[in-house]
Amino acid sequence: MSKTLAILTGGGDCPGLNAVIRGVVRAATLKHGWKVIGILDGFDGLVEGPRVVPLDLGNVRGILPKGGTILGTSNRGNPFAFPVRENGEVVLRDVSGTVIENFKKIGADALVVVGGDGTLKIARQLSTRGLKVVGVPKTIDNDLRGTDVTFGYNTAVGIVTEALDRLHSTAESHHRAMVVEVMGRDAGWIALESGIAGSADVILLPEIPFDMGRVCEAIETRRQRCCRFSIIVVSEGAFPKGGGKVVQATAEQTHGVERLGGVSRFVADEIERRLDMETRVVVLGHVQRGGTPSPFDRILGTRFGTAAVELIEQEKFGHMVALRGRAVDAIPIEDAVGSLNRVDPEGQLVQAAEDVGIMMGR
Ligand code: F6P
Repeated sequence: MSKTLAILTGGGDCPGLNAVIRGVVRAATLKHGWKVIGILDGFDGLVEGPRVVPLDLGNVRGILPKGGTILGTSNRGNPFAFPVRENGEVVLRDVSGTVIENFKKIGADALVVVGGDGTLKIARQLSTRGLKVVGVPKTIDNDLRGTDVTFGYNTAVGIVTEALDRLHSTAESHHRAMVVEVMGRDAGWIALESGIAGSADVILLPEIPFDMGRVCEAIETRRQRCCRFSIIVVSEGAFPKGGGKVVQATAEQTHGVERLGGVSRFVADEIERRLDMETRVVVLGHVQRGGTPSPFDRILGTRFGTAAVELIEQEKFGHMVALRGRAVDAIPIEDAVGSLNRVDPEGQLVQAAEDVGIMMGR
């Protein structure tokens, strides 16, 4: 039976989103002869408008190596708490009814929602209100439960690893400490894996509150023993024992997610003060999310996109595609959202880092 699918990408962008869009469009068109509609700018495109574009083989041609999302995205448009300006003030309103109405207007049978924890929570809420939704897990932070890995993460780890390789030579030449701040709000996967791959000396994660005294001891021991430079990788969500995260803007201020950033400055100032060692800060920021996806993420995005189409064919609504071992499987969206996939401080990966002499802040 002929169907029309809609697809939207929500939350922060991430390398591999276009691979998912292309996978959905190609599988829906070539395998089933279905039509696909793209919704613009995440749920915003259903709150306003509706704002949509038809998607066919022609307009997904050539997008596989492109970063970002051809549909646009937003990490502020939660329809259940949507920022609306009233009498000069921004208030949060539940506009989910408008989303459901606009979805009916575009005449699609089902919706593919590609996003992280926040976006998939919205998808789940809409699904309980009767919308036929399937989910695709996305985030460079790799903090979503239920899938072994999210697409975008592999690319981010590659970008950070390359940066660490480059920073080694300049740190060594100048006998400096380099504090490299990477993304990872609640989970330190990017810091941990890129730190291991890029041979960091210290890695600081949100899961292990760090002891600045011990960090400085490790840098000093290294300076005495062999090397007058050190590379410190710190997740934006890491914080000292007894302290808190460094917040740039609260969720209330952004009308979305809390904006972190700046812990690297704190760590660098402490190293300079305690060790009298010249220290520089490098904040990699959105470079980690931009640009072309790695082959792994292109393949995973393609597999997730095609599997999402199969979920719709099987009418497995309210489910999300997930990588389990080597296979793409389906799990209820509610099993993936709510609590996060975080680094286990006692797990094998942290153990391996410590076994090769990386200081983990404790
Ligand atoms: O959730 C992914 C992420 O990359 C976080 O690690 C980071 O804190 C956040 O997005 C930044 O989002 P933006 O600056 O786009 O609002």
